Amino acid sequence: MAGSTFGTAFRVTTAGESHGPGNVVIVDGCPAGIELSEADLQVDLDRRRPGQSKIVTQRKEEDRAEILSGVFEGRTTGTPIAVLVRNEDQKSRDYADIAEKYRPGHADYTFDAKYGVRDYRGGGRSSARETVARTAAGAIAKKLIAQAFGGEVVGYVTAVGDVIATIPPEVTLAQVETLPSGEPNVVRCPDPIAAAKMVALIEKVRKDQDSIGGVAEVVARNVPAGLGEPVFDKLKADLAKALFSLPAVVGVEYGAGFSLATMRGSEANDVIVAEDGVVRTETNRHGGMLGGISSGMPIVLRAAVKPTSSLPREQRTITKSLEPTTIRTRGRHDPCLLPRFVPMAEAMVAITIADHWLRQCAQR
Ligand SMILES: Cc1cc2nc3c(=O)[nH]c(=O)nc-3n(C[C@H](O)[C@H](O)[C@H](O)COP(=O)(O)O)c2cc1C
Repeated sequence: MAGSTFGTAFRVTTAGESHGPGNVVIVDGCPAGIELSEADLQVDLDRRRPGQSKIVTQRKEEDRAEILSGVFEGRTTGTPIAVLVRNEDQKSRDYADIAEKYRPGHADYTFDAKYGVRDYRGGGRSSARETVARTAAGAIAKKLIAQAFGGEVVGYVTAVGDVIATIPPEVTLAQVETLPSGEPNVVRCPDPIAAAKMVALIEKVRKDQDSIGGVAEVVARNVPAGLGEPVFDKLKADLAKALFSLPAVVGVEYGAGFSLATMRGSEANDVIVAEDGVVRTETNRHGGMLGGISSGMPIVLRAAVKPTSSLPREQRTITKSLEPTTIRTRGRHDPCLLPRFVPMAEAMVAITIADHWLRQCAQR
């Protein structure tokens, strides 16, 4: 009932808050025999980490993954894998205001409405800190799908505000992480010209004591045809839930997405062909899923992410006792969530695909 578990066969349960001692994930259902180490988890935790560049929050968290169970001599044992990531840089005094005032755009009021009690330090469980746990689970899912069928999940930023990038569909993780100059690609947009404009925009917005939203795209490659269930557990439905379960996501589309709504069928349909005995489509407007079942073409999804709601500038709001007031959110916040959102989105897509692959194994 309480919704802290995601998945049916590859089950991911998280526990933890922003300012508690740490965040935990338990992955149940991961098959035995997958090579797995803490270093494997660390790659994506480092991509998600606060303080990784000048354009993200300057909170300092090492985010070291500790595997507590389910791995023996470098391989999964088939038993539940528990991972702990300790919280280190909690400045609870930054959040004293939030105890009494509701931040516009954040979950303070809705948590009070639901529970009547709230860990206001950093947003408690509504904080994106919780996603550190799922990112660790996503790294396990990535290893599973890579070993099972060469599956690969890559995400990147396609828009920040009105700066929109052109990204070739075969983009690599290296292009997402590193610019052609060899410098780190801090905004995770593999179009270098757009990336530079995005960084400048994020810096300007930060100076203005403001924030800005954008769009991230995630591609899953080498996913075999046939994953997904025909009705309620369509792969597209579970992927949408996976992405919408991440904080600040306000829209999800796949393939040509909303633009299909204004096309004619003759423009929208992808021509089906057989190449060396393999069924493919000449184009991929369907985004790799038909009838909620994977088609064998790359699965392509986009998530729209809103601007960070906590702002250092003054905003109008009310207190818990319903008095009008104003709030400036002190503390360290990302002026744009997109660069750190990318590994979280990859994680949720990998977890969903791992889950549906295991379900398909049980059915055929
Ligand atoms: C990577 C990432 C970091 C975030 N950091 C902050 C933050 O520092 N301050 C903030 O107000 N919201 C932050 N958020 C967004 C809030 O967690 C989210 O807006 C809030 O929980 C309300 O949920 P909703 O926007 O999904 O309705 C972050 C989201 C992501 C994806």
